[in-house]
Amino acid sequence: MKVSYHGHSVVQVKTDKHTILIDPFISGNEACDLDAGSVEADVILLTHGHNDHVGDTEEIAKRNDSLIVAPNELADYLGNKGLNTHNMHIGGAHEFDFGKVKYTQAFHGSSFTEEDGTIIYTGMPAGILLTIDGKTVYHVGDTGLFSDLKLIGDMNDIDIAFVPIGDNFTMGPEDALIATDWINAKTVVPVHYNTFPVIEQDPEAFVSKVKTGNGLAMKIGDSVDL
Ligand code: NI
Ligand code: MN
Repeated sequence: MKVSYHGHSVVQVKTDKHTILIDPFISGNEACDLDAGSVEADVILLTHGHNDHVGDTEEIAKRNDSLIVAPNELADYLGNKGLNTHNMHIGGAHEFDFGKVKYTQAFHGSSFTEEDGTIIYTGMPAGILLTIDGKTVYHVGDTGLFSDLKLIGDMNDIDIAFVPIGDNFTMGPEDALIATDWINAKTVVPVHYNTFPVIEQDPEAFVSKVKTGNGLAMKIGDSVDL
């Protein structure tokens, strides 16, 4: 399968049969190379309800008839719009036809802000472990550092982990380095930086300091084969 990075926290996983899009924040994300009007997705996986993660989910899902997998309250919110959803929650795993999804904890918030400013609370934020054909992708989600990352690393054979380094809203580089030691992934990719001035970071400086696993600063549109 092919795993590609598209700026902020946008990750795409392509297998022979399925295209899976994680946190498709495309419109309003200058760092994204995808086009919300043409991107394909059989499945959209969401970590939490913040607009920089839900992004263009509604438009993409309507056009592709995608299945949206999300934490329960966020899935309810999107399901009420008539979208095709599968509700999950932290600690739960499910086998889908495209692979296995397990939701992990994240220390953050989760709400969706409507165009008129109304804030809809969307439950707990999460991370996602996606396993397909024996390969595991860990999208850590938006989170601060927490010590159960070590447990997640011990319990799972993680091939590639997408770790936030932006600071301010999530872990910054120093904490993310500790996280990478605990997650123990074969490849570590920094995400959630440089989208806005307040989360400016140097991804090359970060990956040069990664001790556990191969630090890889993927450029927007880059992909790796697993
Ligand atoms: Ni967030
Ligand atoms: Mn975010």
